[in-house]
Amino acid sequence: MNHFEARNGDLYCEDVALEEIARRVGTPVYVYSTATLERHYLAVADAVSGEPALNGALIAFAVKANSNLAVLATLARCGAGADTVSEGEIRRALAAGIPADRVIFSGVGKSEAEITFAISRGVRQINVESAPELHLISRVAQALGRRPDIAIRVNPDIGAGGHAKITTGARESKFGVSLREAARLYAEAAADPNLRMRGLACHIGSQITNLTPLGAAYHRLADLTRDLRAGGLCVDRLDLGGGLGAPYFNSPDPPEPAELVKLAAAAVAGLDVEVAFEPGRVIAANAGVLLATTLHVNARPDGRRFMVLDAGMNDLMRPALYDSFHDIRPLAPRSGRAVSYDVVGPVCETTDTFARARTLPPLQAGDRVAFMTAGAYGAVMASEYNSRPLAPEVLVRGSEWAVIRPRPSHDDLLARDRLPPWMAKAGSG
Ligand code: LLP
Repeated sequence: MNHFEARNGDLYCEDVALEEIARRVGTPVYVYSTATLERHYLAVADAVSGEPALNGALIAFAVKANSNLAVLATLARCGAGADTVSEGEIRRALAAGIPADRVIFSGVGKSEAEITFAISRGVRQINVESAPELHLISRVAQALGRRPDIAIRVNPDIGAGGHAKITTGARESKFGVSLREAARLYAEAAADPNLRMRGLACHIGSQITNLTPLGAAYHRLADLTRDLRAGGLCVDRLDLGGGLGAPYFNSPDPPEPAELVKLAAAAVAGLDVEVAFEPGRVIAANAGVLLATTLHVNARPDGRRFMVLDAGMNDLMRPALYDSFHDIRPLAPRSGRAVSYDVVGPVCETTDTFARARTLPPLQAGDRVAFMTAGAYGAVMASEYNSRPLAPEVLVRGSEWAVIRPRPSHDDLLARDRLPPWMAKAGSG
């Protein structure tokens, strides 16, 4: 459930007409709904609190899905932790008011500077993805005189996800260590006085709509936990990752968070571990839309109709990268016969195509549309390709709304570049 709905034909976010935001802020613009963020977070949190085996699991929002400070602060106020993959994301989580002891630092390539930063700030746990990284963390910890909490990220050889490019748990993917290697590395690390071994982590993919592989991965972690404990090692935390799909409204809805949580509870039953989840998409995706304006409709003699928008692949990259489907809804649909459009952006690439042969109500230049389900992996993946300023972001709460990241001006963009001294000197050459 989300809080974007039509009222008397006009699309609203909570109690604000999206047309008003588009008119006042301009397009393209991302708009997020506070009530939807809260509702989705609570759907996970309520399910967790109904399962005693989960010991009040930490819900660490995957900051990579949406890292806007106001979005993170909204979730922080609900009690969320954060799953982070860079110093920048840790900084954002802390700045949003998420306590360091609720911040997990994951990722396959952490630099020494980032590890130093994470340990100094006292993050809850570092998820280690390889032996060289473990050794680096040990050296940094020793130099700092700190003993960080560590989990080993296991690659359970179970791939899942809505697209091959977002599958992470298969053997050939770069993430984590095999079950066998994890056991060896865990024992090695447990003997290292610089590290405090706490547990295991896994994350097998994203936009997962079938719970079977997730359940299998959780059981592999639980089995490894029992094996390690049988060898006398302490394992008291399991980080079960994220990955649950969000509805994009082009196929049957994915399972509810409560079903996933139940599965996790069954897998860890009897282990008495602290559990963490790292949901990103399921919380943020349907809490955001991208608004765009139709620049023109280009009707070709062969009958093909290109709807050219002022938003491009640089603003919402998912269709270009993963052929992703995003529902497209006019803010104020006109009456008349539905039309088939190829919906494209202004960027000079053929892949700047949001949809082929999409049937929509008739649209004219100036009409606005919303790309639905754009609150996760939307703004965070945007670029300035073709020297297009990043789209601004707006947060709605009830009948209030505020710009939470303004649109940079063209002067802002230009001012970031420098000419080298030999070109900057007047009259040189
Ligand atoms: N934890 C880890 C370690 C992850 O790598 C990810 C996502 C998550 C949690 C959150 O997964 P979620 O619950 O959001 O599925 N850009 C792609 C998605 C990439 C996901 C990468 N990892 C997309 O637009 O579909």
